[in-house]
Amino acid sequence: MRLFRAQPRIALAGAEEAAAIAGLYSRAWDRHRGRLDERLIADQTPAAEEVSAWLNGGFEVFTASLEGALAGVVRCSFPTGTCMVDRMAVDPDRHNAGVGRAMAEHAIARARRAGVTKVWVQATPKLEDVVQLYRSLGFRESGHLRAHYWGEDVTLMELPL
Ligand SMILES: CC(C)(COP(=O)(O)OP(=O)(O)OC[C@H]1O[C@@H](n2cnc3c(N)ncnc32)[C@H](O)[C@@H]1OP(=O)(O)O)[C@@H](O)C(=O)NCCC(=O)NCCS
Repeated sequence: MRLFRAQPRIALAGAEEAAAIAGLYSRAWDRHRGRLDERLIADQTPAAEEVSAWLNGGFEVFTASLEGALAGVVRCSFPTGTCMVDRMAVDPDRHNAGVGRAMAEHAIARARRAGVTKVWVQATPKLEDVVQLYRSLGFRESGHLRAHYWGEDVTLMELPL
């Protein structure tokens, strides 16, 4: 944990942010090309139209900004009394500045306010930084799916509230 970090401002995303969010996903996943299956990367880099569809129903999308500029995004949904947190990404120029952690904490606080009993996340074990981030927030591995998404393994992690 670093001591001096600018705190990102985290807020519900508006419809006008869809294109900027899509651009951020594209930049954030680009560095994984060649390391993760291209089909997984394609799934994690939606077009602006798909992000707009999330914003229009079924999901809560939060953006983090630093000095007024978009720095990160995360999505929450609430299936059957739980909270699923997914689609987290941080602008590569803002990595390791605490934005991912702040967004994950925000999503957990949102889940608590919703009164759910569990928060779920998924990560591929190849992304050790992601798994480590969730572990440090209290998530525990609860399942491993082999070759789940297009040949990539997936670790399911849960945080009971
Ligand atoms: C994963 C991601 C969202 C992290 O965002 P970030 O803002 O860089 O993360 P933070 O600066 O908040 O770091 C949070 C924690 O991650 C862990 N971490 C970060 N980089 C790490 C590294 N290289 N090795 C090990 N742990 C690391 C640490 O536990 C860190 O904790 P700290 O606050 O004590 O330093 C970002 O790297 C990203 O957008 N990656 C591409 C998309 C992606 O993988 N999304 C996740 C899908 S499940």
